[in-house]
Amino acid sequence: MTFTVPHTALEQLESQVRQALHTTDDSALDVLGYGEITLVLRLRTEAGSFACKRLPAFSDPARFESYRRSLDEYLRRLAERGLTVAPTEVWHTRAPSGRVTAYCVQRELPSERLCSRLLHTEDDVWAKNFFARFLDRVHATVHHGLGLDAQASNWIDMDGELTYLDVTTPLMRDTRGRERLDVRLFFTSLPWVLRDAVRLSMATSIFDKFYEPRGVLLDFLGNLHKERLDSLVPAFLEQANARLAQPLTAEEVAAYYRGDARMWELIQRLRAADRLWHRKVRRRPYPFLLPPPVAR
Ligand SMILES: Nc1ncnc2c1ncn2[C@@H]1O[C@H](COP(=O)(O)OP(=O)(O)O)[C@@H](O)[C@H]1O
Ligand SMILES: [Mg+2]
Repeated sequence: MTFTVPHTALEQLESQVRQALHTTDDSALDVLGYGEITLVLRLRTEAGSFACKRLPAFSDPARFESYRRSLDEYLRRLAERGLTVAPTEVWHTRAPSGRVTAYCVQRELPSERLCSRLLHTEDDVWAKNFFARFLDRVHATVHHGLGLDAQASNWIDMDGELTYLDVTTPLMRDTRGRERLDVRLFFTSLPWVLRDAVRLSMATSIFDKFYEPRGVLLDFLGNLHKERLDSLVPAFLEQANARLAQPLTAEEVAAYYRGDARMWELIQRLRAADRLWHRKVRRRPYPFLLPPPVAR
């Protein structure tokens, strides 16, 4: 199921994106999905339609190569654990200055099969069966060195198989529990984090939950509130707790969601403020595509 990213089409897409960042008019971009971090763009070509996730710019080729290696390793380790992941390739272009712009590219998968959508459209029987399969995947995959951001919008259900989409941020930790990811790079859209190391380490602790099944499930269940799917929480809690040593409660899920929603709201506001600063005060293009505000 491998594919080769169509080079010229991606070059064109990147120049469109640059144009949009420069003019602050992004109406020409074909948006496939909004994540918390990235904007996912659709690219139609003769070789099919692709989902293109633009990464933060890499200051030099070495930094890019190290990202690429960690992504490859992440994909390999997820596969070793039996997880089905959307085949992902990295496309990049290098400026004379050495700066690298890169995208994670996947084939566009049918969005009507996105689990966050199916949980709205399918019935309770489907939901129960989905969640049983989901629990199997989470318990088989996640451990202190390998993480998953398992929210419902990160999975597509195709032919009875859950396919994981959200691999742009490889979640791996070394034996001392340190993030393998170039965390600074992925927080470059959050200038406040970069100001001091204390904040940076605080920010990495928000990743803790992704490295144990209980935290991954808490995050998944909390996010059902955001998706207006809270009615599913009690039944899912029962299924989840059958496999957890320390059970989760509905109160814990709701409290977690309130905290998580506040954090992302704050991040969105800070990014919007930073964008304004770039554009109005420094009079330079803001280098990121931001998703629109989300109702929480
Ligand atoms: N291969 C794909 N095919 C179709 N839609 C996709 C694909 N990858 C991502 N999307 C859409 O874009 C959204 C965000 O993508 P994701 O990889 O989860 O990025 P983020 O890290 O920003 O959450 C997904 O929830 C989904 O709606
Ligand atoms: Mg996502």
